[in-house]
Amino acid sequence: MNYNEAFDKLHKFGQEHVLKDYSDLAEQEREALLKQIDTTDFSVLASCAQKQEAAKRGEITPLAAMQLAEINEKKEKFTVLGIEAVKAGKVGAVLLAGGMGTRLGSDDPKGMYNIGITKEVYIFQRLIENLMDVVKQAGSWIPLYVMTSDKNHEVTVKFLREHDYFGYNSSYITFFMQEMAPASNYEGKVYMEEKWKISTSPNGNGGWYSSMYKWGVAQKAMEDGVEWLNVFAVDNVLQRIADPCFVGAVIDSGCVSGAKVVKKCAPDEKVGVICLEDGRPSIIEYYELTEELMNAKDKNGDPAYYFGVILNYLFRISDLEKIRERNLPLHVVEKKIPHLNEAGERIKPEEPNGYKFEQLVLDMIHELDSCLPFEVERNKEFAPIKNRTGVDSVESARILCEENGICL
Ligand code: UTP
Repeated sequence: MNYNEAFDKLHKFGQEHVLKDYSDLAEQEREALLKQIDTTDFSVLASCAQKQEAAKRGEITPLAAMQLAEINEKKEKFTVLGIEAVKAGKVGAVLLAGGMGTRLGSDDPKGMYNIGITKEVYIFQRLIENLMDVVKQAGSWIPLYVMTSDKNHEVTVKFLREHDYFGYNSSYITFFMQEMAPASNYEGKVYMEEKWKISTSPNGNGGWYSSMYKWGVAQKAMEDGVEWLNVFAVDNVLQRIADPCFVGAVIDSGCVSGAKVVKKCAPDEKVGVICLEDGRPSIIEYYELTEELMNAKDKNGDPAYYFGVILNYLFRISDLEKIRERNLPLHVVEKKIPHLNEAGERIKPEEPNGYKFEQLVLDMIHELDSCLPFEVERNKEFAPIKNRTGVDSVESARILCEENGICL
């Protein structure tokens, strides 16, 4: 792309300021900027205007979860089914590690955070230890696919290599990178990270499968016989991964996906709630849950929208293939975006100063025909680390780890 073509493209989206300092740039910087303009999708910025409008939802009705009592009763049968699938190489695990972890406030990728007290215990290490439990139980390695982003790929790969993958067999680990999206101010003008570089941030965790496909990793997984992918977040240090009982329950149910869920601790807890929307499985965000839905009861007198998702899903790959090209909704999220100000000084804001544009994995559930919500015990499997202190923090996760006999 040459200067004029770049200018025309920017003009179409009202982003001409991106070329403001072009004449001061060195040749290499000019090339880098033109290339970035060429490959950036500026159409996402139009979503700023719709930010204030609440997304229109269909008719919301309850979706019953498979609860602990039933799971315990059928645990053996499910586990046998799940172990069989793992042994046959049909189950892969996908670690979503492309996020920026801004709330945690560490400059390193979140997985590199050390939550240890008397020794080093990194978040990545905790996750691999959990996966290793299943590897040992099944007696076979589970392919682990790790999604990183442009912002953290090299450092993540280096860290895991230097720690010898915390004992995991590296020939079963494959990395791939997610896409980036431009970040803008509140008026929808993209920020500049350098005079020759538009500010970008990872485009959310919803593009994981299309990125996996773009990298040829999904095709390789299918060739290798993987049929199910267990997608999980980097920050829940207690979650069971490729959990045979969960895998077995989903296979047994005939559903094409499954979601681990916990009973909400309060009607307004800030977790997405699993439900049906126009008769299809869906996840409604906590801020979209009306008073009426929050207080609705099922036939047993329990809350009808009782189960929150914990970002641990199982997907059947053949069904992901069917929805690979579909566009998921775009979420406009307020964040702190480092940038250059008018005077060309580097600013690292203390408060949110603009928007990032993200697609979310939870929206994939609505694209699929069926989903089994599978209850897990909150205190045993849900210790997310979003913040340093307080709710969902390093502090709260440490307490839960200790309660579960994990020595930190
Ligand atoms: P979060 O929603 O907690 O986002 O991600 P985050 O970027 O890690 O943290 P904050 O909001 O800036 O503090 C949930 C999961 O999705 C992954 C994260 O790495 C985490 O495992 N994720 C998020 C991605 O892989 N890519 C993204 O673009 C965003």
